[in-house]
Amino acid sequence: MKSVNIGILLCLLTVATASFLVFSKNTTDTATELQVGEPIESVLVPDQISDLGLLGKNIFDLKCQSCHGINAAGRHEIGPPLVHKIYEPSHHSDQSFYRAVALGVRSHHWPFGNMAAVEGLTKGDVKAIISYVRELQRENGIL
Ligand code: HEC
Repeated sequence: MKSVNIGILLCLLTVATASFLVFSKNTTDTATELQVGEPIESVLVPDQISDLGLLGKNIFDLKCQSCHGINAAGRHEIGPPLVHKIYEPSHHSDQSFYRAVALGVRSHHWPFGNMAAVEGLTKGDVKAIISYVRELQRENGIL
């Protein structure tokens, strides 16, 4: 009688392990469907962007978009979205943007490696970029 119970237990254990493996394989497959460089977030763009925000968008597109993606949506395996809860002002103040541009960023939230400092931008340029990113964040319910 005992050995029958153990047999049933082993059987159940095998089924549980198998379904766990199948389930975790499925989730990995979904995560790898994105191609390298594709947007990580789907970002809504506001109908109206302020003049400062538009200036910021131009600078962003030149200096930041290669890693942070079109509309700061992130790029798969390249760089993180800035339109993301992590970068709301209470967690990443405007100061963290000035610091990131001036000094670079040591990788701590994402698996993309470090960000190097970005040369050739004034504080005013970064202020415009921040305005652009905050306007995108607001449109996407992050602010
Ligand atoms: C070469 C790629 C690259 C470029 C170009 C780049 N970034 Fe980044 N940035 C990154 C990566 C990668 C991270 C994430 C680091 C981590 O794991 O937290 C990051 C993080 C940040 C952060 C978060 C800082 C923090 O304190 O966590 C800000 C803000 C930021 N970037 C702003 C910018 C701005 C503004 C520009 C353009 C002027 C820019 N980045 C250009 C790769 C880049």
